Amino acid sequence: MISCILKAKHKFLIALLFAVTASFGAWAQASDPANVATKGVEPEATAAASEPGAGADPAVISAGQALFRNNCAACHSAGSEVVVGPGLQGMSQRRNEAWLISWIKNSQALIQSGDADAIAVYEQYNKQAMPSFAFSDDEVKSIIAYVESGVDAAPAGGTATAAAADGSQPIGDQAIGAIGGYLDIILVVLIVVLIVLVVTLLLISSILKNYLNKNKQLDEYDHEIVNQRFDFSKVYKSSAVRTIVALIFVVVLIDLGLDKAMGIGIQQGYQPRQPIAFSHALHAGEHEINCNYCHTTVYESKNASIPSANICMNCHSQIKTESQEIQKIYRALERNKPIEWVRIHNLPDLAYFNHAQHTQVAGVECQTCHGPIQEMDVVYQYAPLTMGWCIDCHRETPLNTKGNGYYDNLVKLHEASSKGAFTVASNGGTECSKCHY
Ligand code: HEC
Ligand code: HEC
Ligand code: HEC
Ligand code: HEC
Ligand code: HEC
Ligand code: HEC
Repeated sequence: MISCILKAKHKFLIALLFAVTASFGAWAQASDPANVATKGVEPEATAAASEPGAGADPAVISAGQALFRNNCAACHSAGSEVVVGPGLQGMSQRRNEAWLISWIKNSQALIQSGDADAIAVYEQYNKQAMPSFAFSDDEVKSIIAYVESGVDAAPAGGTATAAAADGSQPIGDQAIGAIGGYLDIILVVLIVVLIVLVVTLLLISSILKNYLNKNKQLDEYDHEIVNQRFDFSKVYKSSAVRTIVALIFVVVLIDLGLDKAMGIGIQQGYQPRQPIAFSHALHAGEHEINCNYCHTTVYESKNASIPSANICMNCHSQIKTESQEIQKIYRALERNKPIEWVRIHNLPDLAYFNHAQHTQVAGVECQTCHGPIQEMDVVYQYAPLTMGWCIDCHRETPLNTKGNGYYDNLVKLHEASSKGAFTVASNGGTECSKCHY
């Protein structure tokens, strides 16, 4: 008798599970963006759309993104909004690649050559001349690939520039964001499914219990089993359950602890308020003042140096003298006290780092280590400055030996003894004593 009921229950459960999985599958398929995209569009159009952008190398896309932000974002959005010029979304469907390349390199030349499309947009946008860009074909193609990738297509130009200011890598962030949103939906659906399952099971068990209680064939012992209550105190007292809970707790604690311990002394992202609202975006970005105009020793010595108030006065004895912020410079000079800039980058004393070796000898760009300083209104620490970070770069970076007599013999010796690239590491750049006193 019982076995017959149990079978019925099994069948019911299996049917229920089946239904739930099937409907979940259908939902997942319907909301898969790739599916939606390809369903609505003609096969031809899909091929055209995917030709330049989709499937392009992420490195090309992010190179294009950087070029776009630095050169185009002031006038164009990567979406469809008009800023100064038209939104560039779908530009490679409107125009062919050769047209785009010659337009971007020199739009005026194209207009003067009598190209009808060029004249049409030019007139549509009130004959505003777009500047020319001395890009290579590949650079233009990378911009096209970036725009077609749709990475920043949704937001308008304003958002694109706002994202540029934070200097992070929005491609990765956005992709992760999209996947994150997707996972959230799946999680919610799974939880709902679980709750439905639990409720159904409870219902089934109470129906079964009622039915069995009415059944005359059961003896005392069967009744006892049927009416058994779920005993939480037993679960609580069970040593197995306690051990498992304790284990999970300990693992989580250790994980958190390790994360914190590894992070000690790492100040990536540190962005203190400075005593004067000095902006690199304004000075090094907009006004293109060279870094070493202010950081005078960065190519010659260990330290880059922070400019004294006198250097500011080269310009600010004339410029913006009425500004509150500039008057702070005058006050510092009157009192003969240095401006108290808050130091951002700071290696522990046990490590030795030399700017001249990296900027002058190796020719590493400031931005490689300090990020897009020329876009920062307030400077923040871009790199982690950990030992692993230094060593990783030393392992990957070939030495800049061209025109450096010091390396002539070493290059010959290296070529004789090893086939690999002549990296900083192969020249001893990972020996402890190079960086530790
Ligand atoms: C100073 C503003 C400005 C900048 C910077 C600028 N553009 Fe333009 N762009 C325009 C204007 C305005 C037009 C509309 C045509 C015209 O008036 O010349 C245009 C038109 C275009 C078109 C033609 C669009 C179409 O629908 O045919 C393309 C493509 C384009 N720009 C790409 C770029 C790229 C790529 C960059 C960066 C490398 C860039 N532009 C930088 C102002 C600018
Ligand atoms: C007009 C002068 C000026 C120019 C040009 C300038 N800087 Fe600075 N820089 C400063 C001043 C002042 C500070 C200290 C205040 C601050 O952190 O904003 C500073 C701070 C910094 C810091 C942080 C130092 C710390 O405390 O760890 C870095 C890194 C830096 N600059 C890099 C650059 C780079 C790279 C460039 C060129 C792209 C540049 N600077 C151009 C004046 C200048
Ligand atoms: C090579 C010239 C030059 C030097 C050197 C220079 N500045 Fe400037 N600074 C400018 C220019 C140009 C502006 C923009 C003025 C404007 O917006 O009209 C400016 C603007 C500013 C502003 C914004 C003022 C406001 O109220 O809008 C501050 C603050 C400032 N500078 C601080 C400094 C400090 C601090 C130093 C020294 C570390 C310094 N500047 C060195 C050229 C310079
Ligand atoms: C290879 C990486 C690297 C490069 C390239 C680099 N820096 Fe630095 N920079 C650092 C590190 C690391 C520190 C922290 C140094 C310390 O605490 O001793 C630092 C500190 C600074 C500081 C704070 C003051 C000081 O001297 O400690 C300034 C300003 C600065 N850098 C400017 C520049 C400028 C300008 C350039 C380009 C001309 C540049 N840096 C290139 C890694 C780099
Ligand atoms: C972006 C890449 C990069 C990063 C990051 C970097 N370095 Fe270097 N480093 C180089 C290159 C390239 C050279 C080779 C310069 C030369 O030709 O002498 C070098 C050389 C050195 C040397 C001299 C090595 C020798 O063989 O004489 C020291 C010391 C050094 N780096 C310390 C550091 C420290 C400390 C850090 C981290 C705070 C660091 N570097 C981060 C690229 C890097
Ligand atoms: C390219 C430069 C470089 C080389 C080579 C290097 N270190 Fe470091 N080391 C650093 C820097 C920079 C720090 C400080 C950054 C930090 O605290 O993470 C550091 C920190 C340390 C610390 C302190 C760790 C802490 O958390 O305070 C120890 C210990 C250390 N290094 C040992 C070594 C040993 C052993 C070697 C040789 C196998 C070595 N280092 C080689 C750059 C280097």
